[in-house]
Parts: sequence; C-alpha cells; structure tokens
Amino acid sequence: MSQINLLAAAGFTLDEGVSLLYLLAAALFILGLKQLSSPKGARQGNFTAAFGMLIAIIASLTVIRPSGGRIVLMAVAVIVGTFIGAVLARRVKMTAMPQMVAAFNGVGGGAAALVSIGEYMRLVSGSSHGVVLAISVVFSVVVGSLSFAGSAVAFAKLQEMMTGVPITYAGQQIVNGIVLLGIIGFAAVVIGFSSSIPILVILLVISLILGVAFVLPIGGADMPVVISLLNAFTGLAVAASGFALGNTVLIVGGTLVGASGTLLTKMMSDAMGRSLSNVLFAAVGKVTESSAGAGAGAGQDQAVRSGTADDIGVLLAYSQKVIIVPGYGLAVAQAQHVIRELADLLEKRGVEVSYAIHPVAGRMPGHMNVLLAEADVKYDQLKEMDEINDEFKLADVALIVGANDVVNPAAKTDPGSPIYGMPILNAEEAKNIIFMKRSMRPGFAGIDNQLMFDAKTIMFFGDAKESLTKLVAAVKSS
Ligand code: TAP
Repeated sequence: MSQINLLAAAGFTLDEGVSLLYLLAAALFILGLKQLSSPKGARQGNFTAAFGMLIAIIASLTVIRPSGGRIVLMAVAVIVGTFIGAVLARRVKMTAMPQMVAAFNGVGGGAAALVSIGEYMRLVSGSSHGVVLAISVVFSVVVGSLSFAGSAVAFAKLQEMMTGVPITYAGQQIVNGIVLLGIIGFAAVVIGFSSSIPILVILLVISLILGVAFVLPIGGADMPVVISLLNAFTGLAVAASGFALGNTVLIVGGTLVGASGTLLTKMMSDAMGRSLSNVLFAAVGKVTESSAGAGAGAGQDQAVRSGTADDIGVLLAYSQKVIIVPGYGLAVAQAQHVIRELADLLEKRGVEVSYAIHPVAGRMPGHMNVLLAEADVKYDQLKEMDEINDEFKLADVALIVGANDVVNPAAKTDPGSPIYGMPILNAEEAKNIIFMKRSMRPGFAGIDNQLMFDAKTIMFFGDAKESLTKLVAAVKSS
C-alpha cells in the first residue's frame, strides 16, 4: 500500500508510523475542541477535528491492511456513510440539529457495541482472552447499546414521531433499577465465569431496553441535555472498544467525547438552574392536574399593550442603546439576516446595539451564536448573559425577538415556577420592552410570562421575519 511505502521511505516501521499518525490525529482532535470553544474559531474547529479523523481513518486502514472482499466492504461502508452524513448535514435545518446529533450519536454507540462483540467473538474463538478484555467489551456493549436506544427515543421525541410529554407510571424508577441490576448480573457472568456470546447478546438486548426505559420519562424540552449525556456515554463506549481492539486513537477520541459531553451536560443543566438528577428523574413537562390550567390560558384576562411597526420604528431610531434578545422564534423564522439589517441601520444612526445571548436560548448549545454568525453579526456585539445583564438598566429598549423563557421573571420571583432558579436575562430592567412573537402562547417551558403584561412592554405580534422587515422599513422612514 502506498501509505506503507511512504512510512518506509520516512524511515519508520509500520507500527511507529501508525502511532505517529494516531498522535497527530489526537492532537488535531484536541486543537479542534479548543477552537470550538469560541464562536470565532468554531467553524475552523470542525475542519481541524474532521482532518484529524481523516488521518485516523487512513492510519487504521494502513494497520488493518484489509484485502480482497473486506476492502470492498469497507470502501462501500465509507462511501455510503460519507454520502449519508454529507447529505443530511447539508439538508438539516438549524432547528432540527439536536435530533440529527441524537441520530449520529446513537449510531456511534451502536457501532461501538457491535465492534466490541465482533472483536470478542474473534478473540474468544482463539481462546485467549483476559478479564481486561471482557470488562472493556461488556462496558462497550452495555453503554453503547444504552446510548443507541436512548438516542433513538430522543430522536423520536424531538422529531415529534412520539409524544414529547414524559411517559411515566408508578414504580417506574424501581423497574428501571431492576433492569439495571439484571445488566450488572449478566455483566458479572460474562466477566467472571463465561465467555458465552449468547449471554453477551442478552446483555445487549437488556441494555437496549434500559436505554428506552431511561429516556421515556424525560420531557422533550430536556432532550438536548439527555443527548449531550448520551453523547458522553457513546464516547466512553468507543474508548472501551478501543481497549478491546488495542486502538489508541479510539481510546483518546472516545475519552475526549466522554469528557466534553459530560462537561456540556453539566453546563446545560447549570444554565437551566437545575441539577442533572432533576433533569433525568423529575419528569419535568408532565401534564398534571395542577399544571393543566397553566400556560396559554392563564393570564387571559390581563390586558396587554400592542404597538405598530411605525411606533416601534421611531422608538428604536431615537434610542441611544438597544439590546436585542434573540430566542428560538428567531431561528424558526430564519430572521437572522433581517435582524442584522435592522441592527446595521440603527448603528448607522448612532444607536449602540448589542445582542444578549442566553446560554440555553434556542434548542441547542450555542444556537444563537451559530444563527447570528450565519448572518455575519460581529462577534464583539454578542454578549454573554453575565456580561450584559447589568447593562439592561441602561438600555432604552430591550428588543425581544422570538425569545420567551430566557426573559421570564418568574425564574426569579415565583418559587412555584418550574423554571424558578434558572438564571435569566434582565430584560425587565430596560426602559422599554418590545416583545416580538406571533401570539400570547408560552415558550418551551409551557408557562406564562408576566413580562408580556408589564407596563413598559409593547407586544409586536407576527412572524419574526415579517415583523423585522416592517421595522427595517419603519426605521428607514423615521
Ligand atoms: P422559548 O421560551 O421556547 O420561546 C420561543 C418563542 O418564540 C415562543 O414563545 C414563540 O411564541 C416564539 N416564536 C416561535 N416561532 C416564531 C416565529 N416564527 N416568529 C416569532 N416568534 C416565534 O425560547 P427561548 O426563550 O429561546 O428559550 C429556550 C427554551 O428551550 C428554554 O426553556 C430552555 O430551557 C429550553 N432548552 C434549551 C436548550 C438549549 S441548549 N438551548 C436545551 C434544552 C431546553 P409564539 O408561538 O407566540 O410565536
């Protein structure tokens, strides 16, 4: 193979050359992650990590040296996988990104489980296997299958192929606990007593059942957090299969995914002001008798003030400081370009404009950053919550565009609210509040927002893109 000739020409043995390539791939993964940690470097981070993955694949093929029918099979797998991945990535809407991550993550976990079983069958038939191999294989099969099945349920919930409402029943956590005990029992049998492949397959099936049972009682709103956790699981399953195969780059890559997924899960829970156990076990979003009357209906008899594009255009045009609060509705309306047009117009008139970015605005981490970056909004205009929150009281206008929960004062004032304790943007402190949305319906958390009834608030109803287009025209003519 040409790679082998290249390695030999550079004076390396095959093993040395492959190890060096793995090291290079691992370094590129780490550099990619570092670049992904800021909106500026995120795009480059994707390319860096993908390039690392390409090197890892080439190095793996070099060391495996597939021949005959196997090389055809592997080539077909690479071509089919690349084609499906590329087409889906190009077609997916930004708002559907969480379910795409769930799907990709799930197949990663399933692949780790299957690869481990394959390797175990190969080694067991050669009769030489130790406890370390058995532990790696069992871990990879259990965690990989759990992640596969859990991700499939998360995908179905987000894609609205099934209800997003938590599915619960009395004694559910006890039943799940018993299934977990069953897994531990079968795992102990495989590790300690028997290298039986059928027992390994039973383990795989029960782990799939636990994956489904684990995600069913979690509400659709919490799916992004669950996907991040399952992503960490997949990473660990891949790392374990790396131990089974003796493949360094799988161990490093899997551990990086495990660590970053765990951190992201923690950061998302913190940003929602909730513990991970509350996200996983409290069935938040379940319709109960006491909550059934809340939401869109509550607050119906309170009056709201609504405004016209012309009134609001004048208010914006003669402001000194405007803070835009983007949310999920901005993404739904695909209004990122027109909001930038409005901001540019205002800046030309000498208005100071910035964007307040809440860590869980939208439906996935960094959703607003990605959306606004698509419209080339300058990075220094994007302000994180902690950085901007003290500035709202100095702002003439807080322009809330398709956001709701992230500005809901109930998070600070109502201990009975499901979002109580979630850090929010202090939009209520601005001198004027413009609330842009289509109706009085609640946001993702399904609860009313008293800010819509605030004396300083003007509601501007309509699709965000259409409304912003009207505001652009109104500012131009003021
Ligand atoms: P939401 O609270 O979900 O509110 C979005 C608002 O956008 C809705 O009230 C909706 O009102 C409006 N909207 C929808 N389509 C629109 C359109 N075409 N034009 C104008 N408005 C439109 O969004 P948010 O404030 O961004 O908060 C995010 C929520 O998701 C939080 O509850 C958060 O905890 C949850 N969540 C986020 C994440 C991540 S990582 N981002 C993860 C898990 C959960 P109308 O229907 O009246 O238009």
